[in-house]
Amino acid sequence: MVLDGSPLPDGSVARMLGAAADGARAAGGEVELHRCYDLAVRPCMACGPDATPGYCVFHDGMDAVYAALERSHAVVVGSPVHFDTVSGPLKLVMDRCNCVTPLVTLADGRQDCVPKWPRSRRGAFVTACSAGRRPDFAERSVRGFLRWVGAQWEETLAWSHADNERGSVPADTLAAARALGRRLIEGEPPGGGRAGEPEDSTWPK
Ligand SMILES: Cc1cc2nc3c(=O)[nH]c(=O)nc-3n(C[C@H](O)[C@H](O)[C@H](O)COP(=O)(O)O)c2cc1C
Repeated sequence: MVLDGSPLPDGSVARMLGAAADGARAAGGEVELHRCYDLAVRPCMACGPDATPGYCVFHDGMDAVYAALERSHAVVVGSPVHFDTVSGPLKLVMDRCNCVTPLVTLADGRQDCVPKWPRSRRGAFVTACSAGRRPDFAERSVRGFLRWVGAQWEETLAWSHADNERGSVPADTLAAARALGRRLIEGEPPGGGRAGEPEDSTWPK
């Protein structure tokens, strides 16, 4: 699954995600693209423990995202860096995924975060930012999100540039994105973590 958090369909991030999708298809994968800027998504209301047996109390553009995440073998998240983190529409989607590993009351009365899915997905982050800047904070946020939706972050591909040209990402970075997409399909899924068991600190951040 490709989760595109970029506003520009012909921007650098969208082009990198397109190349990653091409690579995945070339390796025999099927690619499902969800553009956060096209989704109608309400913000997470932090409704607390035992909120719902489904994914969320709201039903909106997120319903299709939950379904795609659940059946995916790999999740590629893309976003330009906006004020040092991911774009607003992607952040809305990420927050609404808190209930993939919700806080629930256990049989003994304690509360813990329990994943709905096994942690069997592969994950990567594709980003673009200005020259001399780093996507660290955005990456940190995406890595936390991937963990919460049962994916293991493997790498970040970043295009850092001084120009103001739309979609200026160069051919070698697009080739790296294609190779990334191919790798995500060809490699073994990660092991570790089980659905229905409390989230544990051994899962790599
Ligand atoms: C609202 C907004 C905030 C931005 N904030 C940052 C920032 O904090 N750090 C940075 O390096 N670039 C920042 N940029 C620049 C973009 O990250 C950069 O131009 C990126 O390549 C855009 O990718 P795109 O063409 O795929 O949209 C910002 C751009 C916008 C529109």
